[in-house]
Amino acid sequence: MPKDKGQPVDDDGRRLFLKLGVHGLGAGVAAVTAGPAIAYLAYPLSQDPTTGGSGFITAGRADRFKEGEPVKVDLLSNKMDAWNRIEQVKVGSAWILRHEGKLLAYSSVCPHLGCAVDYEAKDHKFKCPCHRSAFGLDGKIEDGPSPRPLDSLEVKEESGVLAVQYLRFKQGVPDKHTV
Ligand code: FES
Repeated sequence: MPKDKGQPVDDDGRRLFLKLGVHGLGAGVAAVTAGPAIAYLAYPLSQDPTTGGSGFITAGRADRFKEGEPVKVDLLSNKMDAWNRIEQVKVGSAWILRHEGKLLAYSSVCPHLGCAVDYEAKDHKFKCPCHRSAFGLDGKIEDGPSPRPLDSLEVKEESGVLAVQYLRFKQGVPDKHTV
């Protein structure tokens, strides 16, 4: 019997059809499984990256802060980046005191160039060791190159517990701008 001349063409066509079918099926399976996986991995990127850092942070019982006796308090908060939650990270420090009956908090960062401000009990003054700026218990400048008073922080007291809103401010400028 003579060989059918069309046969090789049909086989090639079938092979090509099967090949495309297998590849298409593979791509479909990959798309179905990759979609949810990508959505799962990308989910944290759509969430608020930080929790607690810019809100009020507990600073302890309000009655521990006595008139005219500043206490330096490290402010701790939980932080969350896209994939990690880190418990109790120090976000900053504040000097907290009662002054003329009011609870006050100041950022411990010097408004001049950002050194850590200390408190000298014998002089009743906050002092910066870097360029000798000095501030009174009311936060006002008493000496040195600081362009503005100590940066006050908002405080609130609830059920005897004090919380401080910790913010960072631009240094070296006369006005208080958050950064
Ligand atoms: S950084 Fe405090 S006086 Fe300069």
